[in-house]
Amino acid sequence: MQIAVLKERRPGETRVAASPDTVKKFIALGAQVAVETGAGAASSFNDAVFQEAGATIAPSAAAAAGGADMVFKIQKPMTAAEGSDEVSYLKSGSILIAHLNALTDKPLMGALAAQGVTSFALEMMPRISRAQAMDILSSQSNLAGYKAVVDAAATFGKAMPMMMTAAGTIAPARVLIFGAGVAGLQAIATAKRMGAVVYATDVRYATKEQVESLGGRFIVVDEEKMKAAQTAGGYAKEMDDDFKKKQAEAVHAEVLKADIVITTALIPGRLAPKLVTAEMVAGMKNGSVIVDLAAEAGGNVAGTVKDQATITANGVTILGHTNMAARLGRDASALFAKNILNFVTPMLEKGTGNLKINWDDELIKGTLVTKDGAVVHASLAG
Ligand code: NAI
Repeated sequence: MQIAVLKERRPGETRVAASPDTVKKFIALGAQVAVETGAGAASSFNDAVFQEAGATIAPSAAAAAGGADMVFKIQKPMTAAEGSDEVSYLKSGSILIAHLNALTDKPLMGALAAQGVTSFALEMMPRISRAQAMDILSSQSNLAGYKAVVDAAATFGKAMPMMMTAAGTIAPARVLIFGAGVAGLQAIATAKRMGAVVYATDVRYATKEQVESLGGRFIVVDEEKMKAAQTAGGYAKEMDDDFKKKQAEAVHAEVLKADIVITTALIPGRLAPKLVTAEMVAGMKNGSVIVDLAAEAGGNVAGTVKDQATITANGVTILGHTNMAARLGRDASALFAKNILNFVTPMLEKGTGNLKINWDDELIKGTLVTKDGAVVHASLAG
């Protein structure tokens, strides 16, 4: 079993899909690992540490992938139109494992099928307990939630905790968090640890207890509708206009009082709901900070510009990073790599490292997008 780890070429991407730790583990399982030179440079894993872990260093992506049975990447491969034809490096019959954005990039899935690649989209991992250790959305969102608070604190011109000093008392910062999923809960925990007073809201009533257990105060909008707002998979449903109106009224006053607003609200496969209106932003205090973690999906905040810091006329900074996890490249890589290790280990025969994929496993079925020259995932086929 030859595994290749490719360098990420998309702008702003610092992560790498293997760590020295996972390289060692794959080698112990009987595999050989080739890492493209410089693949870990932006996440503080240089070629030497991969070599020490037992990997060989390949001089280019083509050289690494050319002999590989399995290729690991963080992001989906680039196409010729994007400047670097990474799909062409993948040999027919090889397996690709990455965050593929499979549901939103059907042309790329077609190209992978045409190339004869068997591809697994990690973002489609079923959210069941057995898969938690393989869940890249969780591992990366958790770091994003933490980093959002750290970024906000760094931009905010005041302190987070209450401080009683001889020169006077500083009031604690007031932080408001929209969406109490993986990122939001970590943001609440981080802001609390920094000493802020934290408020949070979500459409799913189930999150109330989680918010409160972290010391946050939960803003209830419409209890009955919130109790029905969760899908069987644990995700949020899109809410009706009446709920949206009530939610806007319930949070409006809180937004105006907040020093820091962090938004994380997402609905899978849809544009992010707009929750912080231009009117709300215009009413916020000078010096307040908003971090919009939904920027990639269109943003939860009026005025968010992707990958930019915008300062509004009334002095509110809106941060719109689309790849927050890449701003903590080393930890994000280590966790992403571990997610891949946990997903791939059951596919390899102990000792020989030979492939023995159980195609009937629900985790395999849930993530398998292309195989034998066709797009095979139920949500995409046809
Ligand atoms: P997400 O990233 O899809 O959304 C973030 C949060 O935004 C969610 O809590 C959602 O309810 C909320 N939201 C959506 N629309 C909103 C609106 N209009 N206003 C306010 N909030 C809104 O969600 P994430 O973080 O991926 O987690 C979703 C669920 O999956 C959770 O129930 C979580 O516990 C569960 N989960 C299960 C795992 C497993 O069992 N393997 C792993 C990770 C998460």
